Amino acid sequence: MALANKKIKKIAINTGGGDAPGLNAVIKAVTVAALNRGWEVIGIRDGYNGLFLPENYPNGDGLINLTYEIVEDITPRGGTILGTTNRGNPTRYPMRDTKGNTVEIDRTDEVLAGFRREKIDALVAIGGDGSLMMANGFVKKGLIVVGVPKTIDNDLDGTVITFGFDTAVSFATEAIDRLHTTAMSHRRIMIVELMGRYAGHIALEAGISSSADVVIIPEIPYDISIIAEYLKNHFAKGRKHAIVVIAEGAKPKGGDAAIIEHEAGKAERLGGAAERIAEALKPLVENEIRTVILGHLLRGGSPTSFDRLLSLRFGAAAIRALDEGMNSIMVALDPPTMRYVPLDEISGKIRMVDLDSDIMITGRDLGICFGD
Ligand code: F6P
Repeated sequence: MALANKKIKKIAINTGGGDAPGLNAVIKAVTVAALNRGWEVIGIRDGYNGLFLPENYPNGDGLINLTYEIVEDITPRGGTILGTTNRGNPTRYPMRDTKGNTVEIDRTDEVLAGFRREKIDALVAIGGDGSLMMANGFVKKGLIVVGVPKTIDNDLDGTVITFGFDTAVSFATEAIDRLHTTAMSHRRIMIVELMGRYAGHIALEAGISSSADVVIIPEIPYDISIIAEYLKNHFAKGRKHAIVVIAEGAKPKGGDAAIIEHEAGKAERLGGAAERIAEALKPLVENEIRTVILGHLLRGGSPTSFDRLLSLRFGAAAIRALDEGMNSIMVALDPPTMRYVPLDEISGKIRMVDLDSDIMITGRDLGICFGD
């Protein structure tokens, strides 16, 4: 584990990528635990933008001095008081060239110059795989970094769970519970698309918890004829409705995930999985089909108590790590405690659903169709 022998006086904190419920709780714990050690805490607005694009902040508020008062009551608040972005990745910053084409430019040296200018000794980077990989790049250029694993998708390696996931699964479960009664009244097949990028954790856990009949995840490419057959038998047995939960990253056998767009400097935008499977199912089943996309509703609102506590624990552990002289690590949940995982070990890795896990086996034992 890398150790930094620098005495910390001033740290920065930022939130990168998509927001997730619990971000503010991490900000609070980091701020309070750092202030209690006599350190200064600077919040960087909108990923790294507040630090390296001062022209976007004419009032000089790209950086915020975080105080006890500012963070006092933010634990239950969704979103992030610092703002975030999944556009301004400084390693691949989108800019126009002389011909008007969008090109991706590496602007990390400007970010590092910003840290030096502000005399910031260390960074607590709260982010998903992309943000943590980027932060690890800054370590290689001399910055002290501790990462905090954030994403509703729960697809980060090295930690048992990321914060934001529990809130997303709880909300999805409640929403699907509501769909049962309307689907039953109309004898319909209701197809619900859930976020999760290339991993199926949200769809799997929300699907099982909300008694879905079919759960389609990216880890198991689906065969439409198997799903149609399952649904026909399901209705033949007298069932009045069916719930199909599909992860946005799901793909048919031999096909790819449904993609809406891929802009320069941004990650691919997934979407359309529910519509695609509905169109494929229509000619094969008799019942009416309706689709529902829960989308960003999974990311909004107040974190569950599980996510609040996890976020506060992550934030406090990040400051303990810096206090102990650690560098280039991510705090991770390893029940009942926290552990520190080298960023190099988790960088660029995505944790998919383990098809032999107890959760998957439970789904199979319950008779859920996984499209295979
Ligand atoms: O990674 C979190 C996430 O919500 C994914 O589940 C989803 O694919 C993506 O972000 C959506 O991002 P955006 O906010 O850019 O639409």
